[in-house]
Amino acid sequence: MRSTDIAPVLEFLRCPTPDAWVEAALTRQELLLIDHANCEKKAASTALNLMFRYSGDVELLGGLSRLAREELRHFEQVLKLMRERGIAYRRIDAARYAQGLRELVRTHEPARLVDTLIAGAFIEARSCERFARLAPHLDAELAHFYRSLLRSESRHFRDYLAAARKAADGADIEARIDLFAERERQLIEMEDTQFRFHSGPPAPGASYPEAADA
Ligand SMILES: [Fe+2]
Ligand SMILES: [Fe+2]
Repeated sequence: MRSTDIAPVLEFLRCPTPDAWVEAALTRQELLLIDHANCEKKAASTALNLMFRYSGDVELLGGLSRLAREELRHFEQVLKLMRERGIAYRRIDAARYAQGLRELVRTHEPARLVDTLIAGAFIEARSCERFARLAPHLDAELAHFYRSLLRSESRHFRDYLAAARKAADGADIEARIDLFAERERQLIEMEDTQFRFHSGPPAPGASYPEAADA
């Protein structure tokens, strides 16, 4: 990976992924891949929803369309890898993470758009950071795949952030970024009772109930 991909991401995020999450992920690769597939599908869906809600902004539409296509392609790539590994796709609950960020989104425009784009930037940045954290510990095929993805997610992070600044139309969004950054740090560092791609470290004793699926 090139440092130009990951350096701005690490600077943007307030904390690294806790080691305990990485350890948990490595023993739950089946669940990791299932939830990863869900995240890619959700990322495409978020981009499409924005295209319908803000259909008057042609520049935004073009960027979101490309994003949605890339996320769907990632979804297909994860499914293919799962199929080759004999992992069945199944429905699982969403992590608390994205919802925890979306709670901060204001309800009036253009604040709603600005905040949604900032939340998108954090989700992409964290995904990028997690691919980079996991890659050195994975088998060659999965490591290669995750290194290729982190380059896309780093670009998505930059695109979302640039779109947020543009949507703010010159207004300062640093205070909003700080607010999301702090909530994001809490969601990543707070102990969690379920393991997901964007979960916190395992709560002691809770043992992530899905451990049996790993
Ligand atoms: Fe993706
Ligand atoms: Fe992405």
